[in-house]
Amino acid sequence: MAFPKDFIDTNELTKEQILAIEELAMAMKAAIKEDGYYPHLLRNKSLGMIFQQVSTRTRLSFETAMTDLGGHAQFYGPGTIQLGGHESLGDTARVMGDLLDILMARVNRHKDVVGLAAGAACPVLNGMSEYNHPTQEMGDLLTMLENLPEGKRIEDCKLAFIGDATQVCVSLMFMASIIGMKFVQYGPKGHQITDGGLQVDSDVDLLAIGLENCKKSGGTIEISDNVECIKGADFIYTDVWYGLYDAEVDGPSYLDVFMPDYQVTMDLMNYAGPDSKFMHCLPAVRGEEVTDEVADSDRSLCWVEAENRKHSIRALLAAFGPRTPLFDEGVEYAGKERLHAAIAAVEAL
Ligand code: CP
Repeated sequence: MAFPKDFIDTNELTKEQILAIEELAMAMKAAIKEDGYYPHLLRNKSLGMIFQQVSTRTRLSFETAMTDLGGHAQFYGPGTIQLGGHESLGDTARVMGDLLDILMARVNRHKDVVGLAAGAACPVLNGMSEYNHPTQEMGDLLTMLENLPEGKRIEDCKLAFIGDATQVCVSLMFMASIIGMKFVQYGPKGHQITDGGLQVDSDVDLLAIGLENCKKSGGTIEISDNVECIKGADFIYTDVWYGLYDAEVDGPSYLDVFMPDYQVTMDLMNYAGPDSKFMHCLPAVRGEEVTDEVADSDRSLCWVEAENRKHSIRALLAAFGPRTPLFDEGVEYAGKERLHAAIAAVEAL
């Protein structure tokens, strides 16, 4: 299956394509961090970045990744460009698609990033919507691949999401089910994936998408408010209880809903297993969904996970963007063969 033009949803990629992008991410990470070689695969190319919501990790990752690849990124915050007001979304997308080489957007409504992708000639990458957060999941998978338990493959691993069925939770379910992992959401009734809060329209059945992925991959999905479901998890993941989007839990009652059962404490980590690792997309509200003790422990991967946003986004930009040749003939660096093989693998899919 050829790569789609845009990266809107991980469900539009195959397992092989996702893993090829992750290998490219690791090869570029090694080339840059270990060899000091910056692969200018997007030399002189321009990325436009639309942010309708605040962002630290996503903005910094896209902007610095583009610099690493020899290109340039432009930031458009709320109110700085036409976007479906004075000018139609389709007209804006058409103009941006002709002026830019790549566009990314963090939007209030998922249909806007879909509309940008439909109207722009250039590739469009989804930087998060109320529905999903696919670039986050590429960084999360990279982090799990780099931190596999001794003797386990990624397909052998169990990933337990604790708390509210945010777009990060749903996106994790999509990713884990494509890869063939065991995915669990431990969350209260009313806030489970099956409760429909993040469905972009009434026809979308989130669990059905995940289960369809599992048929191909051999993965499993369990959704429960019984803490026993997290037993044996290799990775414990959580997200904020009070987020940016309307569909997420609002108001003072959210603490009553989630506290104390769904707070990730060291006791909960140990209940999952003595070697379970902690993950969080960040930003975290310390003392709510996670304790300081866990976030700052040596079992916490959330900091490397934040850094891996950049490494995985670099690979996404290289995979979906209009690549330029490396021009590294005569340049010697340890990871050269691996990097060339990773680029060739992405080009072959
Ligand atoms: N995880 C994440 O998307 O972080 P930002 O909102 O800071 O970009």
